[in-house]
Amino acid sequence: MSEDSHRERIVPHAGTYHRELPVTLERLYENAIDWEHLPYLHRSSFSRIECVEAGDWGFRARTWAQPYDERRGFVIELRLDRELRRWITTTLDGPGAGTEIWTHAFALGEKRTQVIVDFFVPGLDATRRAEVGRYYVDLYAHLYDEDVWMMSGRQAQLDVAVRRGAEDAASMVLGSLSEVRARLPITIQSGARTFRIVESGGELIAYSTVCPHLLGPLGESEVRDGIVECPWHGYRYDIRTQRCVSGANIRLAPAPKVTVSAESEVVLEFH
Ligand code: FES
Ligand SMILES: [Fe+2]
Repeated sequence: MSEDSHRERIVPHAGTYHRELPVTLERLYENAIDWEHLPYLHRSSFSRIECVEAGDWGFRARTWAQPYDERRGFVIELRLDRELRRWITTTLDGPGAGTEIWTHAFALGEKRTQVIVDFFVPGLDATRRAEVGRYYVDLYAHLYDEDVWMMSGRQAQLDVAVRRGAEDAASMVLGSLSEVRARLPITIQSGARTFRIVESGGELIAYSTVCPHLLGPLGESEVRDGIVECPWHGYRYDIRTQRCVSGANIRLAPAPKVTVSAESEVVLEFH
């Protein structure tokens, strides 16, 4: 008896989700073991996560679904087996304990992969299989929509980094102060780098729109009290100091200084 059919006798199979994805296996593995993104990128499905243990092998974490209820946290473990190109997510404790989600991945070409995801739910009555299967398939379709946004955004940034080399200008005149204020926020491309200019505390500030964690997009998030939050894992940065203020020892890439000349012209000065 195969390993799969043996375990299906113990934990009933509820359904299968499959999808072709425009990403490499490497991006998929990275995404699978990335526990931090659950309550940020997947904020409509997860409300909180606390990591117990994590590494190249996967992770174990207590997590909470939406809406948040302190008493309904559940422990999940994800184990990645690169040789078998698969990862298994098991609910170890809490609501849904014993549920297993097996994902197999296949490389179809350059930046093209196929995932096949099987859902096993303990104690599942045959009459509810279709309904529970549909629930998981819909949930995974939604989660993968969000994951594709992150994985392909990260790939695009990595590809830009490879092509990098275009020189920054030494300075750039943006226009008169009143004109510039009326156009805020402004996105500026310089060489291969992108900056955003906002007004914060009465001051014009430019900051790099690429998150130094895993290259997430900082160009669309609202800046509040000089702090910008990345939508992928929630790391926060002070755009005045470039420092990460949520605990990671990283900082934003240097940004040009915004100055206002005696003639009230706004100038970006690159270092
Ligand atoms: S890419 Fe992870 S917090 Fe921005
Ligand atoms: Fe995800």
